[in-house]
Amino acid sequence: MKTDTHHKLAPLTIALHWIIGVSILAMLAVGVYMHELPKSPLKDTLYFLHKSSGLLLFFLILARIAWRGKNGLLKPAAPHKDWEVRLAKYTHISLLTLSLLMPISGMIMSLSFGSTLPLFGLLEIGPVGKYPPLAWTALYTHQIGAFAFLALIVLHAGAALKHHFADKDYTLKRMLGAEIPRR
Ligand code: HEM
Ligand code: HEM
Repeated sequence: MKTDTHHKLAPLTIALHWIIGVSILAMLAVGVYMHELPKSPLKDTLYFLHKSSGLLLFFLILARIAWRGKNGLLKPAAPHKDWEVRLAKYTHISLLTLSLLMPISGMIMSLSFGSTLPLFGLLEIGPVGKYPPLAWTALYTHQIGAFAFLALIVLHAGAALKHHFADKDYTLKRMLGAEIPRR
C-alpha cells in the first residue's frame, strides 16, 4: 500500500483526512443543534444519528491514528518558519487527540446517564446502569472538547488557506492529492 512521501501523500491519508474532517464538522453542527432543540421526535432522531455516526467515526479515527503511527506525522510541504512547523505539529496532535476524546466522552456520557449506544439499528450496546458523577464529567468534557475542537479547526483551516493564498505553497494542494514538483 502507498505511504506518504514529502512530494505526494498516500490516497488513504487524503481520504481519511477529508472523510473524517467533514464528518467531524457535521457532528459539531448537529451536536449543538440537537442540544438546543425542545423535546421532540426530531430531537430523538438526531440523538440516534449523532450517536450512531459517532460510534462509526470512532473506528475510522482509530484507523487514522494507526495509519499516522505507521507514516509518522506530516513533514511540512514547504520551508516554513520554525514556530509555524512547531505550531502545525502540536495542532495536528491536538486535532487527533480531540478526535478520540469526543467519541470516547460521548460513549461514556450516554452509557453512564443510563442510555444506550445504537449503531443505526444494527446493534445496541447497554443500558448498563446510571453513574451520574461520571456522566456529568463526560458531558462537560464533551462540551469543552467541542469548543476547543472548533477553535483548533478555525486555526488549522485558516493556516491552510494562508499557505495557499498568501504563501502560495503546496500545503493545501498536497492534501488535495497534488504532487510537489521535483526541481
Ligand atoms: C467526533 C465525534 C463527536 C463530536 C464532534 C461530537 C460533538 C458534539 C457536540 C458539539 C455536542 C453539543 C454539546 C452541547 O451543546 O452541549 C454533542 C452532544 C452530544 N453528544 Fe456528541 N459528538 C461526537 C461523538 C459522540 C458520540 C460517539 C456519542 C455517543 C455515542 C455522543 C453523544 C452525545 C450526546 C448524548 C450529546 C447531547 C448532550 C446533551 O444534550 O446534553 N457524541 N456532541
Ligand atoms: C475544513 C477545512 C480543512 C482544511 C482546509 C484542512 C487542511 C489541511 C491541510 C492542508 C493539511 C496538511 C498540513 C501540512 O501539510 O502540514 C491538513 C492536515 C491535517 N488535518 Fe486538516 N483541514 C481541514 C479540516 C480538518 C478537520 C475538521 C480536522 C479534524 C480532525 C483536520 C485534521 C487534520 C490532521 C490531524 C492533519 C494532519 C495529517 C493527518 O493526520 O491526516 N483537518 N489539513
